[in-house]
Amino acid sequence: MQTTVIPGRTVLCKRKPATSTFYQEVVKGLSAPQKYLDSKYFYDAEGDRLFQQIMQCEEYYLTGCEMEILTSRSAEIAAALAQHASTFDVVELGAGDATKSIHLLRQLLSNGTDFTYFPIDISANVIGQLEQQLPVTLPNLRMKGLNGEYFDMLQQANTYSHKKKVVLFMGANIGNFNSTAAHDFCVELSDYLLPGDLLLTGFDLKKNPQVILRAYNDNAGITRAFNFNLLTRINLELGANFDIKKFEHYPTYDPGTGACKSYLISLEKQQVQIDDVCINFEADEPLYMEISQKYSLEETDQLALATGFQPVARFFDNKKWFVDTLWKRV
Ligand code: AVI
Repeated sequence: MQTTVIPGRTVLCKRKPATSTFYQEVVKGLSAPQKYLDSKYFYDAEGDRLFQQIMQCEEYYLTGCEMEILTSRSAEIAAALAQHASTFDVVELGAGDATKSIHLLRQLLSNGTDFTYFPIDISANVIGQLEQQLPVTLPNLRMKGLNGEYFDMLQQANTYSHKKKVVLFMGANIGNFNSTAAHDFCVELSDYLLPGDLLLTGFDLKKNPQVILRAYNDNAGITRAFNFNLLTRINLELGANFDIKKFEHYPTYDPGTGACKSYLISLEKQQVQIDDVCINFEADEPLYMEISQKYSLEETDQLALATGFQPVARFFDNKKWFVDTLWKRV
């Protein structure tokens, strides 16, 4: 057993780091010709806390826009679901604390819709809390939390329920895939669904580039801290020795492609040790951290049609900065 101590945070590495997927993926990314880290690793406890703060930031408009859609358009969304599926169950991918979907669930209950809610989340903690709290807020809700990877849990939901599925994939999480990965994800998702199943996905739309860039470069530096936290996590859990003072946060947005990318730039030529692997950084070398892809409406339609879905409805916030699209599995 190995103990890593960094002032204020102590972590016991129970497994030898070299055997963990986290270690292997980190070393693979840092050994690539263009260094990268997988943004799915942002979300340790501190990353979750920082992401909660990002969502409260004035500059990070995405959460407010989608919340506006769910609070003001749930009746329309519920009507569209009823129009396309006479009876269904609701599955949410990455349910989190369900603060947005709760508005749709409440609407479905008040419409007298007979459904079960299957929230899926990779965090057992999140699912435990949802199972405790949701029945208090929505006493008539039938639910079964599923803790695990999206597709494994979707398969489980299919064994519990033979009704049509309405899958919710909100929060612009699809933006954290590049276009190939988004395509592959939708194809795989359509494989787990049956013709007539529905998918409600949140897309952040292309808009004034300054508005987008500011959302990933907030004044208080929370997004910066969110990116640096992954280096700290690697130090704590994998015994690495990143010195975060030797990196700079560099968010970018390309209005042509809609790719909003975050990098950490090495401020000097340096070496970083992870277990017994030594990583060399050149001065000014970029470390690619995350993509948050922005879409045009045409691009959302193209993605649907290319992956086995038919777009059937769109729900916007007032500024039309964000869209929740409803697609039907063909
Ligand atoms: C979770 N995801 C949709 C966020 C986004 O906008 O890409 C993650 C994030 N990264 C920086 N700020 C927020």
